[in-house]
Amino acid sequence: MIPEPYRIKMVEPIHLLPRNVREEKIENTGFNLFGLRSEEVFIDMLSDSGTGAMSTQQWSALMMGDESYAGSASFYRMKESIADVMGFPYVLPTHQGRAAENVLHSALIKEHDVVPGNSHFDTTKAHIEFRKAHAIDCTIDEAFDPDNLFPFKGNLNLEKLRAALTEYVPQKRVPFVLVTVTCNSAGGQPVSMENMRGVKQLCDEFKVTLFVDAARYAENCKFIQMRETGYASKSSATIAREFFSYADGCTMSSKKDALVNIGGFIAMRDEELYRQCSIYGILFEGFVTYGGMSGRDMETLAVGLKEGIDDEYLEHRLAQTKYLSDLLTEAGVPHVKPAGGHAIYVDALKVLPNIPREHFPAQTLGVEIYIEAGVRGVEIGAVLADRDPVTRENRYPRLELLRLCLPRRTFTSNHLEWVAEGLHNVMRRSSFIRGLQITYEPPILRHFTTKFVRV
Ligand code: F0G
Repeated sequence: MIPEPYRIKMVEPIHLLPRNVREEKIENTGFNLFGLRSEEVFIDMLSDSGTGAMSTQQWSALMMGDESYAGSASFYRMKESIADVMGFPYVLPTHQGRAAENVLHSALIKEHDVVPGNSHFDTTKAHIEFRKAHAIDCTIDEAFDPDNLFPFKGNLNLEKLRAALTEYVPQKRVPFVLVTVTCNSAGGQPVSMENMRGVKQLCDEFKVTLFVDAARYAENCKFIQMRETGYASKSSATIAREFFSYADGCTMSSKKDALVNIGGFIAMRDEELYRQCSIYGILFEGFVTYGGMSGRDMETLAVGLKEGIDDEYLEHRLAQTKYLSDLLTEAGVPHVKPAGGHAIYVDALKVLPNIPREHFPAQTLGVEIYIEAGVRGVEIGAVLADRDPVTRENRYPRLELLRLCLPRRTFTSNHLEWVAEGLHNVMRRSSFIRGLQITYEPPILRHFTTKFVRV
C-alpha cells in the first residue's frame, strides 16, 4: 500500500464497545444501522459523504468566510473555483446534493416525464418520483455482474438510451438525461470518456439537455486516466475539463469529491436555465449567493474542490479502495470487482446464500459485521430500492450489496485490515445467521427508519 500523501495533525479517538453491548445496541435500533449513535461504532463506513478530513489549507480558508447575505466574497471565490475546475459559468449554491436536485427538478421536471440515466442515486430517483415522473435506468448489463472486470461498469447502454429518447422525446417528456459519476448504485463504478461522448452525441441528436451528477467526478476522472486509452499522460484536472465540456451542467454533492463536510451546488452553462433555477433556489435554499451555505463553508469548498482533483491525492484514494478489495479477495469475501472509487460493495447474496431476498440478506450482513467488528456499512439492496410507487410491491434490484465506504483522508491500512478480518469471521459463521423482517416502514425513503426483527 502506498503511504498516505498527508500526515496526521489532529486525532479523533474511536472505541470498540464489547460484543454483547454491540448486540444490544443494534437490537435497540430495530436492526437499522442508521439508528446507531456514532460513539457506538468503531469504524464508520456508512458513508463517504461529509465524513472526510479537511486540510490545513481548508481550515485556514474557513477563517476568510464572508457571511454577507448578498454578494459574499466567499461565493465569488467558490464560483471561480467551480468555473476553473468544471468550466461552468453559472453557479447556484445549495446546502447539499439532494437540495441541488430539488431545485433543478423543480425547474425542469413535470408529471409523467422520464429521466434516462445510469442507476440514479436514491435521492435523485426519489426527487424524480416525488414529481410523479420516472427514472429510466440505462446502465450496461456488465454492471450487474459483480465478477465482470469491465473497467467502466458505470457506462450507459447507448442503445437503451436511444430507445428511451426515440419513444419519449417526441412526446416532450424528457427534461434532461442524467449521467452519474462515479455510478454509486452500480458500485462506485466509472463512466468512460468515450461513453460520455456517445451520450452527448445522442443528446445533441435529440436536442435534449445533458446533466451530470458530479458527486464523485474526480474519482471518475482518475479512473479514466488509469484505464482509458489516450488519457494516461493527462492530469485528472484536464480530464475533468473535457468530461464536463460535454455536459450542460451538473448537480454536486460537495460532501464527496469537494472534500467538505456540508454543501452542494448546481453549475450550468445556460443563463436562462440559471434564472429558472434561481427562483426555486431562493425559495428553498436562500439567496443566490449563499443558498443554504455559510460563507466559511463556501471558502472550504473553493479550496477542497481543487484538492479533490489533485492526482497525488487521488492516486492514494483509489489505491486504498483497491487495497481493501485485495484483502477481501484474499479472505474469500465475494464483492463487486473491480473495486469502485469510494467504497467496497460486498455481495450479500453470495456471503449469506441461505437467506431469501424477502429476509434482506444485505441488511442482515450489515447487522452482522457491526456485531462482529463494530464496523458500520449500509445496505444497497431491497430496503434501499423501496417499493414500487404504483403497485407498492417490494422492488428487488439485481444486486443485493453491503456498501463499506472509505471516508476521505480518514482511515489507515490497519483499519482496513480489521474490516477485512471482521468480514472473514462473519463468512465463517454464515450458515448460522438469520435474516430480518420488517416491523415498521415509512411511506418514502424507507432505508433510514425502517425497523426489523430477526426471523
Ligand atoms: N448523488 C449521488 C451520486 C450521491 O451519492 C448522493 C449522496 C447524492 C447525489 C445526494 O447528495 O447527500 O449531499 O444530499 N450520497 C450519500 C451516500 C448520501 O452515502 O452515498 P447529498
